[in-house]
Amino acid sequence: MSDLLLPSTFGSVVLNRTERGNPAEGIEYKSDNSLDYKSLLPAQCVVKLAYAPINPSDINVLEGTYIRRPPALPATAGMEGSGVIAFLPENSNTECVDQYGSKLTVGDHVVGSPWNWGSWAEYAIVETNHLRIIPKSIDLKTGAMMCVNPPTAYGLLESAKEGDWVIQNAANSGMGQAIIQIAKARGIRTVNIVRREGLEQDLLDIGADIVVVYSGDNDFIEAAENVKEQTGGAKIRLAINAVCGRSGELLAKCLAPGGVHLTYGVMSQRPMTVSGGQLLFKDITYKGWHLGKFQAQKEKFKDMWTWLIDTVDKGKVTTSVIDTIYNLNQAKEAVKHAHSSNRTGKVLFRCDKTLS
Ligand SMILES: NC(=O)c1ccc[n+]([C@@H]2O[C@H](COP(=O)([O-])OP(=O)(O)OC[C@H]3O[C@@H](n4cnc5c(N)ncnc54)[C@H](OP(=O)(O)O)[C@@H]3O)[C@@H](O)[C@H]2O)c1
Repeated sequence: MSDLLLPSTFGSVVLNRTERGNPAEGIEYKSDNSLDYKSLLPAQCVVKLAYAPINPSDINVLEGTYIRRPPALPATAGMEGSGVIAFLPENSNTECVDQYGSKLTVGDHVVGSPWNWGSWAEYAIVETNHLRIIPKSIDLKTGAMMCVNPPTAYGLLESAKEGDWVIQNAANSGMGQAIIQIAKARGIRTVNIVRREGLEQDLLDIGADIVVVYSGDNDFIEAAENVKEQTGGAKIRLAINAVCGRSGELLAKCLAPGGVHLTYGVMSQRPMTVSGGQLLFKDITYKGWHLGKFQAQKEKFKDMWTWLIDTVDKGKVTTSVIDTIYNLNQAKEAVKHAHSSNRTGKVLFRCDKTLS
């Protein structure tokens, strides 16, 4: 069934420890993994990987702070990526289909984000129902970042309606960019908090309505007043928080009475500060939000995916701007870069030089 020539060995980035530590120190590039594709189970296939991002959750796995641990070591790192079906098992009684029941064929472009699938590699053996076929008109760099951030952004915005205002922090992040674009496509207006100057125009260009700089050092009240002035005092009923600490508190300060404050990230690594005054006088509801819960609502998630594929294919939404692309054998350098601040976008691995 295979049209693509498979090598007997391949390269990957492996994690050697689960204790806490510097993220770049726990990994190494290994070039001699054996590819035992002849012993594939009927519901497995070989994916030739194209691109894989380094997301904050990957960094958390490498530094030993993520909520889950790899089941065994050494483990190939990377939880999201794109690629091409390279091999399907022969003599399979069951038809090989993707997560949504579409028949898989060698050469199909696929994306996925199964936990611990090892996307920082040239090849991976994957359960077929963890993959989703994407049209070849969506390029594989875009596809590599479609499974985590855009669905999360879509889910976080679920309660907002056309014409509403929402406020978010870390607005220049991959997530922030997805929230801005999906909100724009749905007619929702966004107030976007960033922690440094120089990002405003790029965010306005992708559809942000308002961008406010709040570093955590400059005046909290001044930032809240700035939001009020620029929105003309509009009622903001949804806050989307990726930072916590004072930045998370600023979002609550800008919310209208009865507003909802959703936390989906803790980039500052500080506790979420909840003001007694916001709770008491404005009756703010504080909630956590994780993609896993949205994915568990299978029908709703499938509808989102259909919408997302169409919207990305039409160019109305795209995935994060890319800062730098590294080869797998530059893994330590790539992880150090992804872990640094002041990036202009995502750091990606190019898993295969022949795929564009
Ligand atoms: N709950 C879920 O289901 C879910 C799903 C997807 C993502 N997430 C979370 O969403 C967050 C963003 O992910 P992403 O992929 O969009 O990240 P990303 O593209 O790598 O961007 C990281 C962002 O965090 C900011 N940042 C870094 N360190 C910070 C600090 N100490 N204090 C305040 N801001 C800081 C960066 O600001 P600078 O550019 O100024 O450095 C940048 O805006 C992460 O926490 C991730 O785990 C959660």
